[in-house]
Formats: sequence, structure tokens, C-alpha cells
Amino acid sequence: MLDGKRVCVCCGSGGVGKTTTSAAIALGMAARGAKVAVVTIDPANRLANALGVEQLGNEPRRVSRDRLATAPLEVKGELWAMMLDPKRTFDELIERIAPDPGRAEQIKANRVYQELSTAVSGSQELTAIAKLYELDQSNRFDLLVLDTPPSRNALEFLDAPGRLNSFLEGKALKAFMRPTGFGVRALGRGALPLLGGLRRITGIDLITDLTVFFGLLGDMTNDFSQRAAQVEQLLRADTSAFVLVTSAAREPIDEAIWFGQRLEADGLPFAGVVVNRVHHDLLGDREPRELGAALAKSLPSSLAGRVADNFRDYHVLARRDDHNVARLASHLDDTRLLLVPQLDDDVHDIEGLLRVHRYLFASQAEREQLIDDLVA
Ligand SMILES: Nc1ncnc2c1ncn2[C@@H]1O[C@H](COP(=O)(O)OP(=O)(O)OP(=O)(O)O)[C@@H](O)[C@H]1O
Ligand SMILES: [Mg+2]
Repeated sequence: MLDGKRVCVCCGSGGVGKTTTSAAIALGMAARGAKVAVVTIDPANRLANALGVEQLGNEPRRVSRDRLATAPLEVKGELWAMMLDPKRTFDELIERIAPDPGRAEQIKANRVYQELSTAVSGSQELTAIAKLYELDQSNRFDLLVLDTPPSRNALEFLDAPGRLNSFLEGKALKAFMRPTGFGVRALGRGALPLLGGLRRITGIDLITDLTVFFGLLGDMTNDFSQRAAQVEQLLRADTSAFVLVTSAAREPIDEAIWFGQRLEADGLPFAGVVVNRVHHDLLGDREPRELGAALAKSLPSSLAGRVADNFRDYHVLARRDDHNVARLASHLDDTRLLLVPQLDDDVHDIEGLLRVHRYLFASQAEREQLIDDLVA
């Protein structure tokens, strides 16, 4: 999937394993000899620790050979990792495109900007892409792997930056705010005491703040649009790859199908889907009742009963997953589908990543063997 690619974006709905998968992909590609940087977003503490990105910095740092040494895997290339700091990335973006440092400082001190740059919705997505673009321009890495923010659904990542960008372009809002503009006319004089009252109570002078903000941005908005176009070009390039991460539950699978179609409609390069945390059928042909009897030989009977119940539940989940994965497979060709099983522990260190990595990078035959071993 990633042969000849320079950018890999891992999308998916909240909590499915985007951060884990991005890190495992980066590790695997570094092992194969590439110089890889993974831009993670809010990884679990221990994973951040394992990758050595818990320090401040907003720049990729090389994961030391010592940390990687625990892995029975020779890393021929280099693994670099960073944890995105959206606020700082936004500030850097403003510094880069402001005509002079004074203007950048004024913008950063503006209340509207401060709210905007820390807003959960949109700013993380926008800054993640901004960082990706900056790293791509720097030409320091063979491959960039981008983890995406925890959003409600995968499409949010594609839509949010556009929404924020059009706000920054602010054409509608600027027209609204002009002294003779629609807003003032529509609100009329009657609104002024109301806004004045609001200012007295809250200390927020929204109209002034907004006017000053857009005044400060001035013609920088053209740069925003221009950058947005360049970023779009980067994401559309055939050296980029979108990987969708999903679980095997019904809704995320529906979303995965929809996401694939949307990428294709938007002309974005869709590399494939990682179905994570798949439950494999551990019972096979064995009767659950038989299992209860077998367990009772080595466990106290109440515990044996509970373990057998747990197996039965697992069996139901496995059948559900199987059904959903088959539905997804009917929309994709096989080469675009990778399954990673539900592991018996969280993934929070290099060893955990390595376990996920094995499933992602195995050949078809190796994967079958891995699943057989798991079931055995
Ligand atoms: N195959 C797996 N087996 C068991 N646990 C897993 C597996 N993959 C991921 N996890 C665990 O699931 C949790 C969520 O994973 P992760 O943080 O990678 O998801 P995410 O999609 O990045 O979440 P968010 O949307 O919050 O950013 C973590 O605790 C991780 O260790
Ligand atoms: Mg995450």
C-alpha cells in the first residue's frame, strides 16, 4: 500500500486505533529502511513515553536506538516521532505568513484568534495538515505518517479544515461587519444597547474583537487560500495515501464504506482499510458446553462457568465481526483490507506496537499462520 508513498494519513472515527496504527506503520516502514516521521495526536502517556515524544517541542524527535532495541526487529532506517501541539502550530503558521513580526504578535494577542486557535473542532485538523505540509516541504523524511484527531467520524478530518479556512477567508463575515454592512443594518440601532450591555457584563466586545481580528488578518487571508490549495495538491498527489482505520462494529464499517466512496469522489488517493481489534472465532467447531466441562476440570466450577460464558460472548462478537468484514470486503478488493486482531492487552509501548506491526506487514501466508497461532 505504501510503496513509493511520501505521505500516509490515518483517518477513522474516535477510539478505533488511529494513533496505534500510525505508530505501528511508521515503525514498520522505518524497519524497512525508510526515514520516517510520525506525527501523533495525543497518544496515551505510555506510548508517548515509549516514542520519547512526551517532551515539549512540536518538532519530530528521533526515537533512540535504545528504545527500539527491545524489539526483535532490525530497524534499518530511522523512526522519528512528534506529538502535535495545535496551538503552537497555529502560532507558527501565523508567524510564517504575517507580513512582519509586529502583526503576528497583535494577531496572537487577539481574543478571537485565541479562541479560534484552541477550538477543539477544526483547529486540530487544520494544524495537523499544516504540520504535514511544513514537514513535506522540508524534504527531511522519506515518509510522513499522520495520525488524525479524535473526531466523531472520519469525514470530519476532510471537512473541518475547509470550514475553518472559509471562516478565516471571512468574506461573509467581513461583509456582515462593515459599518454599512448587512449586519449593522439588520441588527439596527436597537441592537447596539444590547451589545453594549453584553460588553459591560461579560467584558467581551465581540464586534470590536472581530473587526480588529479581520483587520489584522487583512490580505493574509489570500495566503490562507493559497496554502489551502497547495495542501490540497499535496493530499491529492499519487505519492500520498489515505488509510482508514476502523473497528469491525456495524457503524464504523458503514462509515468505512462511505469514507472510501467519498475519497474516490473527491479524487483523494485511497490506499486501504485497517480493521483493528477484530475478534477471531476462538471456539471454532467446539461446542460451548464441551468447553465448560473441560474448564471445570482445572477451575472451580463457578469460575469455569463464567469463563465459558465469556467465550460464548466472544463467539457472538466474532460472528458479528466476520459478517461486517465480509460486507466491507464486498466493496473493496482484498489487497486493500488488513485485519488486526483484538489483542489481550492495550498497546502502549514499542513491544505492543510490534505486535500490531506484525499483522500489518505480514504476507498473506504469514498472516494466516499468525491467526492460526492466535486461535490455537
Ligand atoms: N488491536 C488492539 N488490541 C487491543 N487494544 C488495542 C488495539 N489497538 C488499539 N488498542 C487500544 O485501544 C485504545 C485506543 O487506541 P488509539 O488511541 O490508538 O485509538 P485512536 O483512534 O487514536 O483514538 P482517538 O480517536 O481517541 O485518538 C488504546 O488504549 C490502545 O492501546
Ligand atoms: Mg488518537
